[in-house]
Amino acid sequence: MTDQPYSPVPPPAPGPVPSAPPAPAAPAAGAGPDPVREALEAVRTEVAKAVVGQDAAVTSLLIALLCRGHVLLEGVPGVAKTLLVRTLAAALELETTRVQFTPDLMPGDVTGSLVYDARSAEFSFRPGPVFTNLMLADEINRTPPKTQASLLEAMEERQVSVDGTPRPLPTPFMVIATQNPVEYEGTYPLPEAQLDRFLLKVVLPLPERAQEVEILHRHATGFSPRDLAAAGVRPVAGQEVLDAAREAVARVQVAPEVLGYVVDVCRATRFSPSLSLGVSPRGATALLATARAWAWLSGRDFVTPDDVKALAPATLRHRVQLRAEAELEGVTTESVLATVLASVPVPR
Ligand SMILES: Nc1ncnc2c1ncn2[C@@H]1O[C@H](COP(=O)(O)OP(=O)(O)O)[C@@H](O)[C@H]1O
Ligand SMILES: [Mg+2]
Repeated sequence: MTDQPYSPVPPPAPGPVPSAPPAPAAPAAGAGPDPVREALEAVRTEVAKAVVGQDAAVTSLLIALLCRGHVLLEGVPGVAKTLLVRTLAAALELETTRVQFTPDLMPGDVTGSLVYDARSAEFSFRPGPVFTNLMLADEINRTPPKTQASLLEAMEERQVSVDGTPRPLPTPFMVIATQNPVEYEGTYPLPEAQLDRFLLKVVLPLPERAQEVEILHRHATGFSPRDLAAAGVRPVAGQEVLDAAREAVARVQVAPEVLGYVVDVCRATRFSPSLSLGVSPRGATALLATARAWAWLSGRDFVTPDDVKALAPATLRHRVQLRAEAELEGVTTESVLATVLASVPVPR
C-alpha cells in the first residue's frame, strides 16, 4: 500500500466523490417511494433555491443530522457557509444562531451565564447562543482554548452546566464550526482530540464559473440572502421527519464483511508512512455511521463498500495527521486517503 510514488497532485479518488458525496442517485429499483426520504430530498430542493451548487455540503449536513454529529466546515469567506446553514434551518423549521469566535469571546458568551436581576434580587440563567438547533460557530480557531472547550463540552454532553445545574440543549443540536483555510496561522488550532469529536469535515469549494454566473444572475434579479422567504424557501420537513429518518437509518443492515472493510480502511491509515496519526476507533465508528446514513439516503437498506468509500474522505480527513516530511513533499491528506482506499481490498 505504500510503494506507490506520491505526487503533489492527488490521484483521482477511487470513490464516486473526491470530497463529499453528491446528491444521491435515484432509489434502487424495488425500493419504492419512502415519504421520509422524499421529505429530506425536498429539503435539498429548498436549499437550492438560495444556495447554488454545494450539493455535497448539503448532503453532508443532512448525514450529520441523521447521525447526531457535528460538522467542521472549511472554506474561504464568501462561499455561502452562513447562507447554507441559515437556509437549511429554514427548510427544516429549525432554530439557528451564529457566533463569531473572536479572541476575546468568553465561555459564558457561548453557553450563557447567570445574570443578576435587581428587581427579584436573584440570579437567573440567561441562555447563550448554544441553546439552539443549528449553531454556526464561525472561525472557531480564532478563539482561545478555554472558550473552544466550553463549546466542545456542550457538543459532547448536549447540555450546559453553569451554576452546577445541568441544562439540556434542544433537539436536534448540531454545531457547524467554520474554519478559514487561509488564516490557519496565528490562531488556536483545535487539538487532534477535539477534531475527532466532529463527525465530518466538509470543504466548501469555490463555485464553477457557470455556478458563479447563476449566483450573480439571482442577485441581479432580486435575490437577497437576508430574505429567504422571498426566495421561496419554505419549511418542508421538521423534527418528526428527522426522527423517522434516524429510525430508518438504524435499520440499515451492515454485513460483517463491510464492518471488516471499515476497520481495514481505518487500520490502514495507522500504518501509512505519510501519517503521524491514523484514525482512532472513534473515527471508525463515525465512518460506519456516516456510510449507513448515506446508504439510506441513497435508497438502500444495506451498506456497500462504495458507501464507505464515498464517506471516507469527509469522515476521516480531520482525524489523521500528515507527517511534516510528507507535507514538504507535497503529499496531501486527500491523496493519502485516496491511496489508503485504493490499497485496502474491497469485499465482494
Ligand atoms: N453558492 C452560492 N449560492 C448562492 N449565493 C452565494 C453562493 N456563494 C456565495 N454566495 C453569495 O455570497 C454571499 C456570501 O455568503 P456567506 O454565506 O456570507 O459566505 P461565508 O459565510 O462563507 O463567508 C451570500 O449571501 C450570497 O449572496
Ligand atoms: Mg459567514
